[in-house]
Amino acid sequence: MLKDKKIAILGSGTMGRTIAGGLLKSAKLLPSHLRATCRRKDAAEAFTRELGVQCLLDNAQATAWADVVIFCIKPKDLAKALEELKAKGALAHKPLLISIVAGISTPFIEAILASPCPVIRAMPNTPCSIGKGMTVITKGSRAKVFHAELAREIFTPLGRCMELEEKHMDAVTGLSASGPAFMYVIIEALADGGVMRGLPRQVAIELAAQMTLGAAEMVLATGRHPASLKDDVTTPAGCTIAGILALEDGRIRSVLARGVETAAKVAAELGK
Ligand SMILES: NC(=O)c1ccc[n+]([C@@H]2O[C@H](COP(=O)([O-])OP(=O)(O)OC[C@H]3O[C@@H](n4cnc5c(N)ncnc54)[C@H](OP(=O)(O)O)[C@@H]3O)[C@@H](O)[C@H]2O)c1
Repeated sequence: MLKDKKIAILGSGTMGRTIAGGLLKSAKLLPSHLRATCRRKDAAEAFTRELGVQCLLDNAQATAWADVVIFCIKPKDLAKALEELKAKGALAHKPLLISIVAGISTPFIEAILASPCPVIRAMPNTPCSIGKGMTVITKGSRAKVFHAELAREIFTPLGRCMELEEKHMDAVTGLSASGPAFMYVIIEALADGGVMRGLPRQVAIELAAQMTLGAAEMVLATGRHPASLKDDVTTPAGCTIAGILALEDGRIRSVLARGVETAAKVAAELGK
């Protein structure tokens, strides 16, 4: 049960804050059962002030206290942080380790560790901060079903959570973790179209964002294929099919698909 667990979040940047904030907002965990870490004293004090959670400058101290340790640091910092925890004996009690670090596989993490800690790899996204996130988890070789269930308990309050095989994690990173940034560009561009036809900027942004939300919820709520939903909107000889043809002239499908493919390729390189 999540409420009985003590969780340490190593790295309190964008994602560390997102996960801590989401967990606290969901009331699934008491602030006293959560600790975070970072490298700078002023950042630690700001974190504690804003979230009411103790933020330490010592990963080993937080790890030795925790039942679950979530790594929210950059790929280049992970190996060193794991080596340090190992050298200080902070993993001797075999906590569950959850890594959200892009491009770093569970075999890579397991190879560094001397003690057989269970490892889960997770890929959340920034909308987790408002409970609308998408997280995909995958089990390392020592993680059992109940470890995955615990990880689901952590990420489900932050949005949707699904388990996939590890071979899919770089594609997941390119799609649902990088995706919010792609959508912000698309929303801004759609709003530009409205502005071009005379809408005030703020109105155009609100229309574009709410329309995007509604279209996404139509896909999820109906379970229908996006192509079929698109056909509902396209009256013969109407304005929507005319707009779609203009998008197709700009190769919108391959541009978006290649964007995801490129992000996934770069994600795969991050751990090398
Ligand atoms: N951003 C996303 O949308 C997203 C989505 C899914 C997964 N991820 C993954 O999440 C991880 C974190 O990304 P982010 O966007 O949150 O990065 P970020 O905002 O740069 O945060 C990283 C944090 O880790 C701290 N840090 C660095 N080394 C540390 C150490 N040894 N011990 C404790 N804290 C340390 C940094 O502190 P300083 O500032 O003092 O260096 C910073 O606060 C990355 O591996 C990324 O691949 C990100």
